[in-house]
Amino acid sequence: GAPVEVNVSKLQPGQMLRVEWRGKPVWVVKRTQEMLDGLAAHEDKLRDAESENEQQPEYAKNRYRSIKPELFVAVGICTHLGCSPQYLADSFSAQVQGVPSGFFCPCHGSKFDMSGRVFQSVPAPLNLVIPPHQYLDENTILVG
Ligand code: FES
Repeated sequence: GAPVEVNVSKLQPGQMLRVEWRGKPVWVVKRTQEMLDGLAAHEDKLRDAESENEQQPEYAKNRYRSIKPELFVAVGICTHLGCSPQYLADSFSAQVQGVPSGFFCPCHGSKFDMSGRVFQSVPAPLNLVIPPHQYLDENTILVG
C-alpha cells in the first residue's frame, strides 16, 4: 500500500481525523495540554507504559508515543481481536476511574489511554500500534 498524506492544519485540540492506510483505519488526534499532562497520572494502571513489549518505531517507546507530543498517530484497531475502539474525548471516566479521556473497545471492554497504552485487567495484550510516519512539513504527516 502507498503512503498516505494527512493534512492536520485544521485539526483542533481534542479532535480526531481518520484516514485509511493499507486498508486499516489510522487515527490522528490532536491532544490537548490537559490530555498530555494527564498521561503521567495513571501509569501504575498500565500494562506496558514504555511500550517495551512491542515492535514499534523508537518514537513510540515513551509516554507520548509520538513524534510531536500534541499529535498522536495510531492504528485504530484493538490489539485483542481487531475491533475498532471508540475515542472518548471526555467521557472515558465512565470506563476508567479518574481518567477523563481515552479509547474504549466495545467488543470485549479493552481500554487504552490517550497514548494508546493498554490498561491492566482487560483482554487486549498490547498497546495500540503506532504506524511508521514522518512530517513532510509542519502540517503534513506522511503515514507509511
Ligand atoms: Fe477489542 Fe476484544 S476486540 S476488546
